[in-house]
Amino acid sequence: MLRVEGLGKIYGPGGPADVEGTGPEFGRSVSPSTGAVVGCWDVGFEVAAGEALGVIGESGSGKSTVMRCIAGDQTATTGSAHIRTVDGGEADVMGFDPSRRRSLRVDELAVVYQDPSEGLDLHVSAGGNVADRLTAAGWRNFGDIRRRAAELLARTEVPLDRMDDPVSTFSGGMRQRVQLAKALANQPSVLLLDEPTTGLDASVAAGVLDLIRDLLQETGVAAVVVSHDFAVIEMLTRRSLVMHHSRVVEAGLTDQLLEDPQHPYSQRLVGAARG
Ligand SMILES: Nc1ncnc2c1ncn2[C@@H]1O[C@H](COP(=O)(O)OP(=O)(O)O)[C@@H](O)[C@H]1O
Ligand SMILES: [Mg+2]
Repeated sequence: MLRVEGLGKIYGPGGPADVEGTGPEFGRSVSPSTGAVVGCWDVGFEVAAGEALGVIGESGSGKSTVMRCIAGDQTATTGSAHIRTVDGGEADVMGFDPSRRRSLRVDELAVVYQDPSEGLDLHVSAGGNVADRLTAAGWRNFGDIRRRAAELLARTEVPLDRMDDPVSTFSGGMRQRVQLAKALANQPSVLLLDEPTTGLDASVAAGVLDLIRDLLQETGVAAVVVSHDFAVIEMLTRRSLVMHHSRVVEAGLTDQLLEDPQHPYSQRLVGAARG
């Protein structure tokens, strides 16, 4: 459903030569000669329908850069991201022009951000946020839109008596539930979740995680879950990647990765998570 190959992003005007002297073996992701920041480099993975892939690594390791390049929030320096199209073919979304990219985000590829203000218009009601996504997909009948928005919000456990309140009046956990309702509104085939529960209180995060796990199972969407928290990756994913200094240093089954990490950096991460 999603196949990413050779994905690389250098922030600023840099090119592939700036990668020289960066990466885990050099202990830095900033080019020693030009100062260019390597956001991610040589990242590749595949995710099937109904599968969730985890991406783990400490802050600054390049996880969000990978997501943003696939989503089109950032322009990749190099690489491809193929998704299955509605006609059963394949297309490299990296090659799409900006308008095709925007339409992709309506019903094929959805994102849930750590910061709800990136995924939602906080001044608009919960129902309005979901309705926006439906009208973008061509829904026109007011009653149908309202019913579908209510159905989605009910599924993500947003109290329907709050449906017409601006999202700015919602708690962090409820905002993430509205983001999920909006992201799933048009049944995308690919869902990217970037630290969806980071910053929430532990008890609230647990409820949102339960919901995400159920939604992933129900919808059969191909999901990529980014987190710096092993508990999140363990709960939601079967396979995962470890990122360090903008590179993938290890990939494998999540259980095995936790039990028997191979790369020294993964060993450190797992050790830290165990306390
Ligand atoms: N817009 C940007 N401009 C310049 N550098 C950036 C930008 N966004 C991220 N970076 C840099 O790219 C690297 C990877 O960041 P990011 O992908 O946000 O990591 P993570 O999500 O794992 O915390 C970091 O060195 C970060 O400072
Ligand atoms: Mg990030």
